[in-house]
Amino acid sequence: MADLFTQEHDRASDEPQVTHLGHGIFHIKHLASTESCLRRIDEITQEIPMRHMMTPMGYPTKASMSNCGKYGWVSDLDGYRYSERDPISQQPWPALPREFLQIHQSACQLANIPSFLPDACLINRYEISQSMGRHKDKDEQDTSWPIVSISLGLSAVFEVYPDNPEISPMKILLEDGDVLILSSSSRLWAHGVKPIKADLLQPNLTTRYNLTLRRSH
Ligand code: SIN
Ligand code: FE2
Repeated sequence: MADLFTQEHDRASDEPQVTHLGHGIFHIKHLASTESCLRRIDEITQEIPMRHMMTPMGYPTKASMSNCGKYGWVSDLDGYRYSERDPISQQPWPALPREFLQIHQSACQLANIPSFLPDACLINRYEISQSMGRHKDKDEQDTSWPIVSISLGLSAVFEVYPDNPEISPMKILLEDGDVLILSSSSRLWAHGVKPIKADLLQPNLTTRYNLTLRRSH
């Protein structure tokens, strides 16, 4: 964790920059402050440690996970769902930190989409070479609320596979401090994360975090 602090590029001087990639996909650069987000992640994961969850197919997830907010996304042999409690400790999840909600709200404003209150935040941690397979986010009760995701630490190549075969798949480079929004027609499109690569210029940096803010209920 300390490595992420010490190797961090000073984002404070960079202004947020929004790009609409079409189909309701917004890429906002330089929005999240790594240092304050990592502090909050540290506090949350002291209460509910990160773990690999079992998928219904019987394989552990490659990334490790924890949650904050009223609901947490969980997976086991019975399937994927949102739960008000950590299935291991039976504790409610820690509250969604104000910092995460502020980034979420700023992202919605910058993308010019109606803001909404997320009730779930999945925290994914990727070590070098870990990836996330192609999937759709469809465990929410109302899948019309956008997905807002915050990237911290090592960069990732995020792939989006449109439902419409006439639209080419997209590769989006998500760097430290970036926010990605999937809304409107892209909200239910499949997506995944390529294996995380080391950064030769920051050899002590070995981790990527992703915070996915969603309205699950
Ligand atoms: C996810 O789709 O659940 C994770 C996305 C990411 O790590 O950027
Ligand atoms: Fe996803």
